[in-house]
Amino acid sequence: MSLNTVPLLTIGIEPEVEQFILDLLNKTNVTKMEMNMDHMLETVTPRPALVISGPPTKDFSPNELAQTLRMQYHDVPIYLICTARDGFERKDFIKNGFTDAFLLPLDAHRLKTTINESLALASSGAIVVYRPVKIIDLEPGTTLDFDTSVYLPTNNKYVKLSHKGDALDAEKIEKIKKSKMNTIFVPADQMQSFYSYSAKRLRTLEKTSMSETERKEKLSAAVRDLMSGLFTQTVSSFESGQAILKDCSQIVKSYIMQGAESEWYTRIQQVLGEKGDHYSHSSNVSTLAALFSMGLGIGKPEDLALAGLLHDIGIADLPADVQTTDIGQMNKHQLELYKTHPEISVKLIKERKIVVHEVVMKAILQHHELYNGTGYPKGFYGDRISKEAQILALADQFDYMTQLKVGKALMTPAQAVMKIRDDQINDPSRILYNPEILKKLLSLFPADLGVSSGAA
Ligand SMILES: [Fe+2]
Ligand SMILES: [Fe+2]
Repeated sequence: MSLNTVPLLTIGIEPEVEQFILDLLNKTNVTKMEMNMDHMLETVTPRPALVISGPPTKDFSPNELAQTLRMQYHDVPIYLICTARDGFERKDFIKNGFTDAFLLPLDAHRLKTTINESLALASSGAIVVYRPVKIIDLEPGTTLDFDTSVYLPTNNKYVKLSHKGDALDAEKIEKIKKSKMNTIFVPADQMQSFYSYSAKRLRTLEKTSMSETERKEKLSAAVRDLMSGLFTQTVSSFESGQAILKDCSQIVKSYIMQGAESEWYTRIQQVLGEKGDHYSHSSNVSTLAALFSMGLGIGKPEDLALAGLLHDIGIADLPADVQTTDIGQMNKHQLELYKTHPEISVKLIKERKIVVHEVVMKAILQHHELYNGTGYPKGFYGDRISKEAQILALADQFDYMTQLKVGKALMTPAQAVMKIRDDQINDPSRILYNPEILKKLLSLFPADLGVSSGAA
């Protein structure tokens, strides 16, 4: 075994999870060891740097499983992976000793990132994984005690920007901003240094709010908690519905609306250009829809933010193969099922007794309707689609278009809206979005300034 091989132990994981892990570890320098739950107390050599456990069985309660594993491997990450929703209580699992718990397929992306980061940490530098950091959180000229890199999507490569201990070069930052990027990357194991740096910087700026990087991370984490609460509850009462709604309002208030008015355009830019998962999609769309509503003066931003949080929850109720297949790759049957998700989202909200305004329900139900009537589920056209739904649909499309993809150049906000507009002008049979709304939205974006340093 080479020095840099990371020992990983799996215990009683389900066959479909086994395959997921194997695919994930493909090409990484990992020694994988397996164990049955009945042998949990046996000593394993080499000592694992990471433990992945399957779901509790009838012989072990979640509590016993977590505590037994924690006793054996007190100082390493222990992750629980389940595929059944029933009894999945992330917060309890963590309280009992698991480092984190993942529900597949909903958490697939998050699990992948987490395992990769844990392996990187355990490999003492042999494996490097990166976390996105917003450029706006870094001050040119200051000394950074962490490495930074830029990501080049067209070549799928990270290139070093500055080394630990270097001062951040103002000219380089300007150049990056000009090339439409709003994000640079920091090795995951150096993120603590970034957090200390940004906390110190916010203090000197006399700002109490958190950095944009943290706001984004926390928003995504809050959406994840919200969704697992939504899906794993077996009984729904008026009280549980109220509690979920309260969580939603909290998320909207503390992460989405806070400071949004003064930093309107900057906030829109900050959402762009990251590879995301289901949770960051919901949080991005929520932020964008609220900001669009503010800028356009249509609807209430809070309603749009709430609709954005919940618009795609129906997807999580679809069969696993539909959830994990790209829309472009779906067969006819999968696509038909996929197209039911707006109705399922609404059904789930009702079932969970989450009482939201009719406007919010309509926006969610109609977020895939298109202006020329070619959308779903009802094929409504023009202004039969509610204004809020039209804005939500645009925010949804906007997030999709501005995401970082391998082999694709990044788009500025103005470029994304211009592309939607030009596609419609070039093919009048495909007027998918309200031309008036597009025109107004475009007038709000400074044309191609790249990423500005942001308003106060
Ligand atoms: Fe959707
Ligand atoms: Fe969506």
